[in-house]
Amino acid sequence: MARLCVNIDHVATLRQARRGIEPEPIFAVGEVELGGSSGVTVHLREDQRHIQERDVRLIREVVQGHLNLEMAAAESVVEKALRIRPDIATLVPERREEVTTEGGLDVRGNLELLRKVTERLRDAGIRVSMFIDPEGDQIDASLACGADEVELHTGQYALARKPEARLAELRKLYHAARQVHAAGLVLNAGHGLNYSNVQAVAAIPHLQELNIGHAIVSRAVFVGLRSATAEMLRLIDIASRSPEAARPAGLGPVGHS
Ligand code: PXP
Repeated sequence: MARLCVNIDHVATLRQARRGIEPEPIFAVGEVELGGSSGVTVHLREDQRHIQERDVRLIREVVQGHLNLEMAAAESVVEKALRIRPDIATLVPERREEVTTEGGLDVRGNLELLRKVTERLRDAGIRVSMFIDPEGDQIDASLACGADEVELHTGQYALARKPEARLAELRKLYHAARQVHAAGLVLNAGHGLNYSNVQAVAAIPHLQELNIGHAIVSRAVFVGLRSATAEMLRLIDIASRSPEAARPAGLGPVGHS
């Protein structure tokens, strides 16, 4: 079964709305872990609009599972990551004006820079994951950079409204997942997943982990973080046990190679 790692950025978003002291993201860590999260994901943006460096340092100390730090390959953030030492650094593209991460990282177009950043992080004992669109050349480039893992961007699938478009995006994800696995890279996925669209992705063979934030923190407003996490994990569990039922009709044959 794929693991779930909850992204708690938006607990910090709520705090920053008042630039105050609550809610504290570290208090979210225990709640999501009690709900079954395998660790915690946070995105330390260059502008620190939600998660602050202090939050990541404190989370590093209290998290029982792994800490996945999403970050741009920018020098100021790389230095912070080398000080904090997350278990995994997920390299993401970042633009100041975006409301959330848009599109995957162009690994192929930034090969030399990303190879150097990957080497520095790996030398410090940090595993490196590339957040990429489900495209063959980005997978090849991630391997060439020395990455350990990739996270396939599920945003286009999540945004697709028409059934045919959604199916086409899902096919791309399944196809890319096979390539990632065949390349010997660890497979993760995330972005835009929620309680109604998660199962078709959770049924992808060889998936190690799903990173989900916004939907879980939103649901937590009504049922609390622990329950919101457990509810999502239950859907992932059901999809893992009955993957055929979790896949939409028309997806076509799914290779397990
Ligand atoms: N994966 C990556 C690389 C992300 O940047 C984000 C958003 O911070 C997520 C997963 C989680 O996306 P969402 O909040 O839409 O679940």
